[in-house]
Amino acid sequence: MLFAVKLMNWYREKGRDLPWRTTHNAYIIWLSEIILQQTRVEQGRPYFHRFVEAFPIVTKFAEANEEDILRLWQGLGYYSRARNMHKAAKMVVDDFQGVFPNTYEKAIRLPGVGEYTAAAIASFSANEARAVVDGNVYRVLARYFGIKEPINSVQGKKIFAQIAEEMLDKESPGIYNQAIMDFGALQCKPKNPLCADCIFRVECVAFQEKLIDVLPAKLKGKGSRNRYFHYFIVIEGDRILMSKRGQGDVWTNLYEFPMIETAEDMPMPDLTVHADFVQYFEEDVVLTAVGKQVKHVLSHQNIYARFYIVGDSNALKKKKKDWNYYYYEKIDKLAKHKLIFSFLEKNVHLIAGKQLE
Ligand code: ADE
Repeated sequence: MLFAVKLMNWYREKGRDLPWRTTHNAYIIWLSEIILQQTRVEQGRPYFHRFVEAFPIVTKFAEANEEDILRLWQGLGYYSRARNMHKAAKMVVDDFQGVFPNTYEKAIRLPGVGEYTAAAIASFSANEARAVVDGNVYRVLARYFGIKEPINSVQGKKIFAQIAEEMLDKESPGIYNQAIMDFGALQCKPKNPLCADCIFRVECVAFQEKLIDVLPAKLKGKGSRNRYFHYFIVIEGDRILMSKRGQGDVWTNLYEFPMIETAEDMPMPDLTVHADFVQYFEEDVVLTAVGKQVKHVLSHQNIYARFYIVGDSNALKKKKKDWNYYYYEKIDKLAKHKLIFSFLEKNVHLIAGKQLE
């Protein structure tokens, strides 16, 4: 039997019931696909529902203000995705008369929509014959055909894109695409794939030649750099000093506590004599460390963060122009990155307690 037929039979029996699979609305499909980029289905699902509820149609999304979108996005990471969504929604209103494009050629013109997402939108919403190629598809095809070419080399990308198009079921591209992604996610998993009861045991080259653990092959990247962030919680009466991040680095426009960065790890005594630190704080400042160092992993960097409560707001010598005091209720509504809202969630009683002193 043909690969596609077997795959779609498997999907009918074992595929997941996911909320974005019951619609042909290109806008809703786009929402789900952007949310699911670099995000697990179970993590993305509640966000999908929240976004559909807040912005049931693309014009509502376009009209929203960026702060509200970022706030709803909070916790998903890779915030440029949310910013691009806003740009894309505005473009749909301005250039496509408010009708979300359901063809590959039009969808790919939207910011944040690459080849994968354009193929997903066009095939799921209009059954256009475009093959999706995501991590799941690379893995299934690399193993099934025993392809050793790295999936992230220029040549590898070409080879896989071509094979993906050849394998696509041209009658039911939407179902086929969902099927191959689910097959990769549920059966042909990265680790411990379920080969023992796999429908492709006989044809799968990687299984037959014991290459499951080495395929798909990948070129090694440059690795990650380490950064050390030191956050200062400065409380003045009922307000806390917050800083809005600028552009050109991680977390553009998101809020956090005032921070200094050091190139090396720098626990307390050394930190208080660091040039940046003495620029902002008096010599007699009292710092209380809150919790242990927290590691936050981004795609090309590891961020190590420490948090300190500053004993007295008068110990702040100088305030940067984007540092401002906010009431706690207002801070709750600011769009913050994960390090900050996780910290606040854990330590809210501690900060609230401090305010009452
Ligand atoms: N991950 C990205 N898109 C997906 C989809 N449509 N279904 C399941 N997982 C996905």
